Amino acid sequence: MQKNNIQAIVLAAGKSTRLKTGRNKLIEKICGQPMIVYTTKVLTTLDIQTTVVIGHQKELIKKCINKYHHEQISFVIQEDQQGTAHAINCTRELWDKEHILIMNGDMPLVTPEIIQALYKKHIDSNATLSFVMAHHTDPTTSYGRVMKTDNKIKIVEAKEFTGDSSDHCCINAGIYLVKKSFIEEHLNAIEQNEVSQEFHITDLISRASDHEKTIATVSAPFDYVRGINNQHELWAAEQIQRSNIIKYWMEHGVRFSVAHNVHIDLDVVIGPGTYIGCGVHLLHGTKIGSHCRVHEYAAVENVTVGDDTHIYPFSVIKNSTIGRHAHVGPFAHIREQSVIADNATIGNFVEIKNSKIDSNSKAKHLSYIGDAQIGKQVNIGAGTIICNYDGQKKHKTIIKDNVFIGSNNTLIAPVTINEGAFTAGGSTITQDVPAQALAIARTDQINKPDYAKKLTDLDQSDEDEESTVCHLKQKEPPKEAKFVGATRTTNDTLIEHDSR
Ligand code: UD1
Ligand code: CA
Repeated sequence: MQKNNIQAIVLAAGKSTRLKTGRNKLIEKICGQPMIVYTTKVLTTLDIQTTVVIGHQKELIKKCINKYHHEQISFVIQEDQQGTAHAINCTRELWDKEHILIMNGDMPLVTPEIIQALYKKHIDSNATLSFVMAHHTDPTTSYGRVMKTDNKIKIVEAKEFTGDSSDHCCINAGIYLVKKSFIEEHLNAIEQNEVSQEFHITDLISRASDHEKTIATVSAPFDYVRGINNQHELWAAEQIQRSNIIKYWMEHGVRFSVAHNVHIDLDVVIGPGTYIGCGVHLLHGTKIGSHCRVHEYAAVENVTVGDDTHIYPFSVIKNSTIGRHAHVGPFAHIREQSVIADNATIGNFVEIKNSKIDSNSKAKHLSYIGDAQIGKQVNIGAGTIICNYDGQKKHKTIIKDNVFIGSNNTLIAPVTINEGAFTAGGSTITQDVPAQALAIARTDQINKPDYAKKLTDLDQSDEDEESTVCHLKQKEPPKEAKFVGATRTTNDTLIEHDSR
């Protein structure tokens, strides 16, 4: 394809009223990529100079395109959206190539091959105007229908079409290639459509026909040129794209158990031999290694997962890195630049935020680990909570290699547990723990001999349950209570208690 005689205009200024979101439909994502970017990528892949016409929510569209194309694409503003011909007219000053390629911005499944076929036909037949059509007989759709009668050709928009759609079985796809000389002469002559009150680019086709110019057409599969106007069409296009992505990964050795309810974004990468369970969502920026298992309803976004790792059902992982041979979930939540290293295990109902869990370490049950640096071979007992937030600032917790954190610990950050230390179950750790030490920070147990009988007697009295509790508190304050370790008073002064 010779690129120096063709330039492209993409139409993206429309109000998208049929989508009923109040937003420009072209920023809606399909498998993680904005709709308009599918079209602009096709054009940049073919190295065609491209201008996008923007109007409704123009800044949003511009920003969205620039994110993918780094200012490669130029923009023209159509202030009032008076139809597709009016949109093209706004770009007139930029026409400097022999042929102008015009594309609707709302056809995300379009391929470079369709544009190449159109270009070839246009050049080979020395056509004045060429366009893409597709076989589609459904009379209820909103596409313009291609009418060929008495050597004439024209497009009749759905609202005006009264014929039998099986007699006129092709629709206009919304991709046109026109000689600049022809469009320059005829665009301004297009009249406002009586039904829509807009200026239609499709009238250029009837004008070319009326002036007995050569018109060439190419056919494309309907699915490739689907236009998106409403929510159902948006859903259907994403469904096709999703299916294409899954087919691609199947061809690359990925096993899916229930493929029809899995969602995979366009830029996700999956290694061969990996298994993807029912309902899994792999979103933007995710890379899954080979021979992994991602089980039912896991949602993974912008995460790199090493080879042979298992992610169990209902785990939510975002913006993080998981190593090789790791185990995560079920019901784990990992987020904000967390790193789970090789062979680590993060179990059920464990939340990890902005933390590193080094290799062979385990947090298997019911924990919150926030802003922590956890070394190798560490065991975090069930129910451990890291208190990283004092209401104003987040503080760091450091747990060095080979530490054992007992169950139901509360670690008040900032705090460091040094290498090989143990903390006793039920401890509230407020001070650093030296290497190899055992920290016990909990109240001693008091056993009251024969007290059970007293309680039973009280239960049988006329007093209700609530007053019994009050009565107990008042009557029997613990006389010989012993405390271990240190606690803080409200004014944060450390008070030393008896220690064992
Ligand atoms: C258009 C065609 C129809 C074709 C269909 C293919 C016209 C009149 N009709 O209909 O024959 O079968 O596409 O999908 O062209 N836009 C602007 N400025 C405007 C109006 C629209 O930039 O003033 C942009 C929209 O943002 C959109 C594109 O042009 O990307 C097409 O507009 P849309 O309203 O979707 O046209 P259809 O009704 O689908
Ligand atoms: Ca459309």
